[in-house]
Amino acid sequence: MLISGKQILQHAYENGYAVPAFNFANMENLQAIIEGAEEMNAPVIIQTTQGAIDYAGFEYLADIGIGAAQRSRVPVVLHLDHGQKYEYCLKAIQLGWTSIMIDSSLEKLAENVRKVNEVIKIARPLGIAVEAELGIIGGKEDDLKSEQDIYTEVKDAVDFYQATHCDALAIAVGTAHGIYKGTVKIDFNRIQEIREKLPIPLVLHGSSGVPLEMVSQAVRCGINKVNFDTELKLANLQALQTFMTKNPGVYDIRKMYRPCRQAMKEVVKAKIEACKATNKS
Ligand code: G3H
Ligand code: 13P
Ligand code: ZN
Ligand code: NA
Repeated sequence: MLISGKQILQHAYENGYAVPAFNFANMENLQAIIEGAEEMNAPVIIQTTQGAIDYAGFEYLADIGIGAAQRSRVPVVLHLDHGQKYEYCLKAIQLGWTSIMIDSSLEKLAENVRKVNEVIKIARPLGIAVEAELGIIGGKEDDLKSEQDIYTEVKDAVDFYQATHCDALAIAVGTAHGIYKGTVKIDFNRIQEIREKLPIPLVLHGSSGVPLEMVSQAVRCGINKVNFDTELKLANLQALQTFMTKNPGVYDIRKMYRPCRQAMKEVVKAKIEACKATNKS
């Protein structure tokens, strides 16, 4: 079933687990996520970046995302990931997304607050959750590129929450979007400190490449939503390369994408387990 982001995140917040959030841009990608969540009996967030929307089309992603969610045996949230433009947030709300991220993290604090409040004003009366970001999460996020992380300050997080009352907050604690060059270091104490001061679910971005045990530790420290994208893309690529090497003559997309979907599903299931979301549907 398709449900509101608020409901699912609140449940995770109260029950000490994280809702895994996976990016999708096509049908096989989406099926892998939903089937993986159903097999694990877990709630799940399916999310689209502006880049995915530009690739597949807003209406098309609404059709497949909402359709798959409604048919699903587990609770599914359709979330806009790293919405930067107000127009994208508005259109997503109009088309039936049940959770919105407005990412103004590259702006100064006051402007970030202003932009987040602008979206909350339309989303809140409709029961749609709004995720904001504070601090700078390194790596590549769509059109948003940042060379270095700027960790979220505890005091800023408190001020930001008081000024917005956002429903969820993405914090910068050491993870980065994409693949890691070195080893990942997460500031677990910072997660705990922010969690103690804020009464809302915290979100970990850039979680591909983070060892599963570290994901679980971040969840124990107070993370209630974990975003995964790159590892699904890599699983898809590796499965496709392996299949085409073994079967060079195949041109049937159904044959070549079956192992890709399966490989993405395996990643989804492992991440769900690390988030402690198994059997939480
Ligand atoms: O943060 C989101 C993604 O990792 C970047 O995804 O290639 O769809 O923009 P994208
Ligand atoms: P990764 O690509 O590192 O998994 O990051 C995903 C993400 O944060 C999407 O918002
Ligand atoms: Zn992200
Ligand atoms: Na990452």
